[in-house]
Amino acid sequence: MPEQLPATPLSDADWERLRSAATEAMTHAYAPYSKYPVGAAALTEDGRLVSGCNVENAAYGVVLCAECTLIGELHMGGGGRLRAFYCVDGSGNILMPCGRCRQLLHEHRGPDLELMTTSGIKTMEQVLPDAFGPDNLLR
Ligand code: THU
Repeated sequence: MPEQLPATPLSDADWERLRSAATEAMTHAYAPYSKYPVGAAALTEDGRLVSGCNVENAAYGVVLCAECTLIGELHMGGGGRLRAFYCVDGSGNILMPCGRCRQLLHEHRGPDLELMTTSGIKTMEQVLPDAFGPDNLLR
């Protein structure tokens, strides 16, 4: 196993860029049923910015959370791993990803993924401890 290099620290400007991108993404939400628009943005390990908004459906359970469309954009842009994540509600306030989306983010995390949360910056392990993941399928 190659030794992992220390991650480049994220600056305040990186977090501000993510907040701004998540807020912009939120304006594209399709949320006629809940009237609860959500926007999400992330930086990839190689410095790309990806974002997403929630997209609801008349069959309510078919809803795509903002994180789902973000992960779609990640793959459409060549894939890669997430380094930083930020999610906002319709007022631009920090929003915690739902449980299902924590699992989604876990799948695509880089080893140093940090998430802006309502109680500060946290690691993926703090937000989804002892997660089920791809490694479980190898056993
Ligand atoms: N929602 C997200 O987009 N992401 C989350 O992590 C939490 C919930 C959306 C789904 C639905 O369109 C609306 O918020 C209300 O639940």
